[in-house]
Amino acid sequence: MCGIVGYIGEKNCVPIIINGLKRLEYRGYDSAGIALIFDHHSEVIKNKGKVSLLEDKIDSLDLSANLGIGHTRWATHGVPNEINAHPHFNTSKNLYVIHNGIIENYQTLRTGLQKLGYEFITQTDSEVLPHLIDSFLVKGHSLFKSVQLALSEVDGTYGIAVIYEKEPDKIIAARKGSPLVLGIGENENFVASDVSAIISHTKQIVYLEDGEIIQVFKNHFNAKTNLDKEVKKEIHEISMTLDEIDKGGFPHFMLKEIMEQPESVRNSMRGRILFDEGTAKLGGLENVADRLAASKRITISACGTSWHAGLVGKYMLEQFTRIPTEVEYASEFRYRNPIIEKDDAIFFISQSGETADTLAALKEAKLRGALVLGICNVVGSSIARESNAGVYTHAGPEIGVASTKAFSSQLVVLALITLLIARKKTMSLVDGKSIALELSHIPEKISEILKLNDEIEKIAEIFKDSKNFLYLGRGYNFPVALEGALKLKEISYIHAEGYPAAEMKHGPIALIDENMPVVFIAPKDSTYDKIISNIQEIKARRGRIIAIASKNDNEIDKLVDYTIKIPDTIRILMPLLTVIPLQLLAYHIAVKKGLNVDQPRNLAKSVTVE
Ligand code: F6R
Repeated sequence: MCGIVGYIGEKNCVPIIINGLKRLEYRGYDSAGIALIFDHHSEVIKNKGKVSLLEDKIDSLDLSANLGIGHTRWATHGVPNEINAHPHFNTSKNLYVIHNGIIENYQTLRTGLQKLGYEFITQTDSEVLPHLIDSFLVKGHSLFKSVQLALSEVDGTYGIAVIYEKEPDKIIAARKGSPLVLGIGENENFVASDVSAIISHTKQIVYLEDGEIIQVFKNHFNAKTNLDKEVKKEIHEISMTLDEIDKGGFPHFMLKEIMEQPESVRNSMRGRILFDEGTAKLGGLENVADRLAASKRITISACGTSWHAGLVGKYMLEQFTRIPTEVEYASEFRYRNPIIEKDDAIFFISQSGETADTLAALKEAKLRGALVLGICNVVGSSIARESNAGVYTHAGPEIGVASTKAFSSQLVVLALITLLIARKKTMSLVDGKSIALELSHIPEKISEILKLNDEIEKIAEIFKDSKNFLYLGRGYNFPVALEGALKLKEISYIHAEGYPAAEMKHGPIALIDENMPVVFIAPKDSTYDKIISNIQEIKARRGRIIAIASKNDNEIDKLVDYTIKIPDTIRILMPLLTVIPLQLLAYHIAVKKGLNVDQPRNLAKSVTVE
């Protein structure tokens, strides 16, 4: 949510910041703004809507500066408009702040500052920051000290960047619960909320930790804690390339990411399958594997699509390791005083590694002494760094707001973890070997399904104007039904529900008529006969059925309206195949409705507010 880019150096920062904001636009896109410091004055330009509109406005002004900060917003407090857009500034309009996160005590701070004579012009929580910092500057403190003192009064989360006309040699940046990195260049430095914003300029990255404030000059930087202790920061060389974050000829990131899945799931399993031993080698879990296998209970906590992956993980772990496994929404886990025993292991799954609810739940579990394990995609992300141990999914950067390749990679990692634990327990070598071998064939089977793209597009054309959808599946495919419904609703704005197929007759069947498309996930597995009965029940009520079915199933065509035939695999891996047509169906319906699939309304990638 929201994106931050800052530059200090010798070049004109305007195009650098604008291009950085465009790369971050997937994180929030309802307004954008930039503040620039020139020799003896400063300027702030903001606009409602996309970064390209801000760019047009700036182009007409022909500005050039060596110091600036920019922001793309996902509104929390106050409607998306020009006034509420960041950067915010003090009354003298010489100090500028951009902020990601939420200031929880902003009302109290605002009232206090108003009493001191500060006037507020926005509806945002963030506007307290420039005034609060200003209230320390006027007492004679330096910018750094003023930011430090101001933050000591703030409750909530923040990633901020601050610039000041009277100290034009620096950017001050700080974080608490909202990601922020420093990029090191030659005679130039960058600040960003996400490395993708600055990757075209530098691969030398410093990750800020919670409670750190950093002073960034053009040739050096220094960091302290909120309590004024010096911190020595490590510089990391990152491997992400620009190609990975470009559309690569596809019309949308989402389609590119769907199509990338043979490769991304291959990357998730690369070097991790031990075929001869029928198990997995996961370096990040090596030291805790025995403890994991001895766990009395496993909990998986996550949000959204990652939570759906967690549900599939429950089916995998319980079937093969026999360890009771619970799956909890991170937002619920944190606030309900969960029972955590000392032998518990808790996995936190997150593509971004920055989801505020998941991170907060992780911290709570850690505080109570659980073994805290991360399954993250973004290397160096907060959840990855806060975990005791973990596994990266290695899906590569996911830019489309609707998660696709991250989900399939999470499933691969969960299957590998299951193999690792189960083989330490009761799974036989023969079973381990057959799962390992079948896993290695998943990429080619995904490629086969992706060839059905045109066929799925035709089905999308038929159903694009439907107002509701039902997705039904059993066992391993029940979470896939939830995921299919989520994909559709988030990018096409069509109301969609996922249900366990048998639950349908306990209520949702009342909705069925000729206008209700029902997507059945019906591969030939041990519940196939039951699902066929459910299909009959829908047909008897004139529902229109799209079935995801096994390629050798010739019977199902007679019962349903449309079939999408996919290759077979073993049950534990079936979600890796059944989810692919559902991603494509959602994508094509949204495109046909003329919607912006990469930036759906109201959403943002990486939900860093609770
Ligand atoms: C849906 C989607 C969201 C995320 C959720 C968790 O397509 O992307 O539901 O899955 O916000 O995000 P991460 O995995 O980054 O913690």
